[in-house]
Amino acid sequence: MKETQSTFANKVVYQAYPKSFKDTNGDGIGDLRGIIEKLPYLAKLGIDYLWLNPIFPSPQRDNGYDISDYCAIDPVFGTMADFEELVAKAAEHHISIMMDMVFNHTSTAHIWFQKALAGDKKYQDYYILRPKKADGSAPTSWESKFGGSAWAPFGNTDLDYLHLYDISQADLNWRNPEVIAELNKVLGFWLDKGAKAFRFDVINVVGKDQKLLDDPHGGNGKPMYTDRPIVHEYLQNMYRDVFAKHPGVITVGELSSTTVENAIAYTAADRHELSMAFSFHHLKVDYENGNKWTKIPYDFEKLRHILHEWGKGLSDGGGWPAWFWNNHDQPRAINRFIKNPQYYHLGAAMLAAAIHLNRGTPYIYMGEEIGMTDPDFKSMADYVDVESQNAYQELLDKGVSADEAFAIVKSKSRDNARIPMQWNTEKYAGFSDHKPWLANGDFQQINVAKDLADPQGLFQFYQRLIALRKQEPVIALGDYQPMFADLAEVYAFKRQLQDQYLLVITHFGEKAVTVDLPKEAQSGSLLLANYSDSRMADKFVLRPYEVIAVKY
Ligand code: NOJ
Repeated sequence: MKETQSTFANKVVYQAYPKSFKDTNGDGIGDLRGIIEKLPYLAKLGIDYLWLNPIFPSPQRDNGYDISDYCAIDPVFGTMADFEELVAKAAEHHISIMMDMVFNHTSTAHIWFQKALAGDKKYQDYYILRPKKADGSAPTSWESKFGGSAWAPFGNTDLDYLHLYDISQADLNWRNPEVIAELNKVLGFWLDKGAKAFRFDVINVVGKDQKLLDDPHGGNGKPMYTDRPIVHEYLQNMYRDVFAKHPGVITVGELSSTTVENAIAYTAADRHELSMAFSFHHLKVDYENGNKWTKIPYDFEKLRHILHEWGKGLSDGGGWPAWFWNNHDQPRAINRFIKNPQYYHLGAAMLAAAIHLNRGTPYIYMGEEIGMTDPDFKSMADYVDVESQNAYQELLDKGVSADEAFAIVKSKSRDNARIPMQWNTEKYAGFSDHKPWLANGDFQQINVAKDLADPQGLFQFYQRLIALRKQEPVIALGDYQPMFADLAEVYAFKRQLQDQYLLVITHFGEKAVTVDLPKEAQSGSLLLANYSDSRMADKFVLRPYEVIAVKY
């Protein structure tokens, strides 16, 4: 355990999607004052950091990931004074704010891009502009992650600009030192405002080569810009120029299609790049042939293999994972991994324990702590997300029937997670008194008021998990060993810190499985379970979605 990792190893992060957390000004869109209002709720849960998805001025083509001004607050969310109040009030509750930095691209509405379009050479070098190929086709064969070519015409010049995401999200040129200086200035601005943590959006794709080439394997181009060695250099420089002067600030990188080796390199404490890494492989286990826009049951063996590979890989290599089941880009984990709605509650607790007792920093996504599920939307008109709309069109273009395309979008859309937070059974779920920007889910059945009133509520289970991470050094600091890798539908691991051990056994299925505890664990004590009648034993016959944690 490296020095700096031990300073944040017992912390937990909560992600609030500002647009959907709590609306106080009656426009159907969440705002900063709504977040301030709910701080006592978050403090009661026990979290340490609050990650806010982008709250900067933005045309909202990609819900704020298309930023037009890095150093201001979008009026839809409130004012800078609101932000300052949020930082101060959160601090009173021992909560620090994590800002979402989208540094791979800006909105094309950003003044830099606008100046570039107007012909200003200085700003043209802020972006990645290239001539078309001799045959008039795009500069490379790379595909946008939101569909179509990753290139679009740059004004009425004969150049194209690169956009790995939406056409309105132009990739920045990190090879230009002036761009780096601008981005460092942005970080300084938010550090001065009191931010104590930063999430870096798709940070491992910022390093593009000088000469951009087609994917030699005829693919979508990903290997040509993902995890290029220069990204490590960029991050080390950013650490040296910014974070070294702000000890205690934590950073998390969103790493698209990365590897264990790279994740270790990004997060090993002595390399001074990032504090921790999000990877996504464990959430691609219900993708057919790696394609998100398909609908198949998830593959448990694959999931277990990935969790062990990453758990052990980063433990042995000194890297630090950021663990999560849900975020604003993912359908709800309950809908993906728990087959039978009868077990949603138990299953949600089991999933939570699998990451909160793991090695790495656990993230909770808004509403997860009360078991929110995907909404039952009835038509494409209910979906706002640009990626979902594009994907639906692409499926139709490929000849998929409208019904099937809709079923696929319904199971995978990012809007599943983006629906308004469900506070109570009042109109619009207590989120707003105005029709929300995105339709509500099933708030009559699942809401904060109901869960808090339930003696077996999920919120309490999360509270306990968060408290345990602070009470038990083996949870925060122990290393990771896979266990029982041959038992059907069982994901289990052992944590060790000197002579303290924790054995965590999670059951992802419904069929009874017998687990014989190793001798040394038999004299231990039951630290946590999601069935209220669980007792310590030498052997456990696991019930549906059961979790058992034994400390010895
Ligand atoms: C990842 C973000 O989480 C996602 O919401 C966004 O669309 C892309 N990056 C592009 O910024």
